[in-house]
Amino acid sequence: MDKQGLLDELKAKITERNVCRELAEQATNLVLGDGNPDADIVFIGEAPGKNEDEQGLPFVGAAGKFLNEMLAAAGMDRSDVYITNIVKYRPPNNRDPKPEEKQEFWPYLAEQLEIIDPKAIITLGRHSMEFFLPDAKIGEVHGHAFRKQVKFHDGRAVEWLIVPLYHPAAALYNGGLRQTLIDDFLNVPKLITTSSK
Ligand code: URA
Repeated sequence: MDKQGLLDELKAKITERNVCRELAEQATNLVLGDGNPDADIVFIGEAPGKNEDEQGLPFVGAAGKFLNEMLAAAGMDRSDVYITNIVKYRPPNNRDPKPEEKQEFWPYLAEQLEIIDPKAIITLGRHSMEFFLPDAKIGEVHGHAFRKQVKFHDGRAVEWLIVPLYHPAAALYNGGLRQTLIDDFLNVPKLITTSSK
């Protein structure tokens, strides 16, 4: 089966197993991800917002527009990368996802990453960063590459290249942060080339 087929199966599994039932009951769509399942780069945000819930796609609101602009500036578009979130349903009123919701989705995100098997994982904001770099502070590590071994529940471990960036929604209306994120973003292709084995 190709990667898209495996991702479709993963989506069905999340629904069948009633993952985060309370969020699912209030959501319009399960937002699994968007882009190229064969991509070298996967971006991981926090959780879908209103627009994402309505359209069933990640990062299609204001933060998504900013993300698209940065991709274009770095010479990429959404079909070159894969974009997803930790939590796949919209939390009500766009509240932060709860720790238990993030934990419940983590095995599914891990499986999603194993299917795609990218060269680099770009975390957007601290919610997704903390799974890979639990002790890191975003203000200190943003824009740097880290090789991290990630352990699965079944005992297996995989090594991934992690680049933490600020979240586009946080940077959107904050001039200083916005420029920092743009600078970090534009450096990502070079960073991946120099950090890849
Ligand atoms: N913010 C996120 O973290 N994810 C989305 O999909 C949209 C906004």
